[in-house]
Amino acid sequence: MDKIVIEGGKRLEGEVEISGAKNAALPIMAAMILTTGQNNLGGVPQVRDVTTMLNLLNDLGGCTEEFNAGRIIFDSTDINNFEAPYDLVSTMRASSLVLGPLLARLGRAKVSLPGGCAIGARPLDLHIKGLECMGAKIHLEKGYIYGEAKRLRGARYYFDTVTVTGTANLLMAASLADGKTVLENVAKEPEVVFLADMLNQSGAKITGQGTDLIIIEGVQSLKPINCHIFPDRIETGTYMIASAITKGNVKITNCIPKQVESLTLKLRQAGLIVEEGEKSLRVISDGQMNGINIKTQPHPGFATDLQAQFMALMTLAQGKSIILETVFENRFMHVSELKRMGADITIQGRTAIVSGVKELSGAPLMATDLRASASLVLAALAAKGESVISRVYHIDRGYSNIEQKLYRLGARIHRKKIRN
Ligand code: EPZ
Repeated sequence: MDKIVIEGGKRLEGEVEISGAKNAALPIMAAMILTTGQNNLGGVPQVRDVTTMLNLLNDLGGCTEEFNAGRIIFDSTDINNFEAPYDLVSTMRASSLVLGPLLARLGRAKVSLPGGCAIGARPLDLHIKGLECMGAKIHLEKGYIYGEAKRLRGARYYFDTVTVTGTANLLMAASLADGKTVLENVAKEPEVVFLADMLNQSGAKITGQGTDLIIIEGVQSLKPINCHIFPDRIETGTYMIASAITKGNVKITNCIPKQVESLTLKLRQAGLIVEEGEKSLRVISDGQMNGINIKTQPHPGFATDLQAQFMALMTLAQGKSIILETVFENRFMHVSELKRMGADITIQGRTAIVSGVKELSGAPLMATDLRASASLVLAALAAKGESVISRVYHIDRGYSNIEQKLYRLGARIHRKKIRN
């Protein structure tokens, strides 16, 4: 298990290029199950979750012909296995994205329940109810979801809670269902809109993506997907905060400024300068920063996937900030580690009250989940002295070349390879 070593206190400067969006790539990869033929994806980030999804798709009978330099060429013609086993699903919850596509294509699915995860219980009940509404017979047995449906049929379904992968799962299933499906209270995340647009390019008939209601007219078959994954908005936000927390001046290139507007507004409110270009952002700090409040919400609200990183920033702001996490019930695991670095944070239920301190000090730290790990890296960049972050496999799930990118911006950072 590798470790990342950071000697903090260095101002970051220069340019960093954003990689393709992990959370856009994963549903598109699952959607390849709905197609027959050679799919061609570009701009795919080189992160562990992508490799896991590709392993799962190969396990289902598909064939990866190329996976190199951000390109995946994948032949979905021979997909014939309907089981997503525990050892693959347990390492990545997004594997549950294959449930809808397998039912739609093969009429059967056996997908392991991913179980709880560090950031909350994260059930799949809304995915299951939606598929049942479309005529699937589903039962749970020995930790697996078993589903069967000769052909799914169109239905009207309301999501009690806005769910990103739930929306993606039903959207994919409905694309090959018999008749019209209406999904209400759906996720409006850019990754969901992209999925719908790419399915349409392959012959699906989907309208309403980006609003609360999506309508899908089922079709008989879909052509292979040919697309380029857009830049990762959470990676973008993480580097924006990296510039802010190190009192830096960093230009972030190959990004979509509109997708991180809620963060941009909050950074400006805290006193930072954010310059927006067409496909770039520059974040400049003059060293002064006020504590401000945030509340995480589904898109276009403040992303829960940036909450931990923003909290790291607020530990060094002047005054208090209140951070309310409304999406996941247990997404404060970074707090105890940040406190070990000298941060002043109190948790009350889903609220964290952060009182800014003058400085953080480096410490041995443990990564607990993907975004919590990113917040520790950010705090360590700003802290006085050395931090050694262990369990960095969490970071590798979603950040492409993080230590090289930060090193090029001037950070004193390196990875310590540890053989198991
Ligand atoms: C997606 O997870 C992302 N993952 C997460 O990114 C992100 O944090 C999350 O959306 C919220 O934006 C991918 O896109 C692969 P949800 P997802 O279903 O879809 C509840 C990262 O760091 N819920 O939108 O699994 C759930 O418990 C990650 O990259 C139900 O109650 O999240 C949560 O409270 C981690 N029943 C809320 O909905 C269900 O059936 C939103 O979760 C489904 C969800």
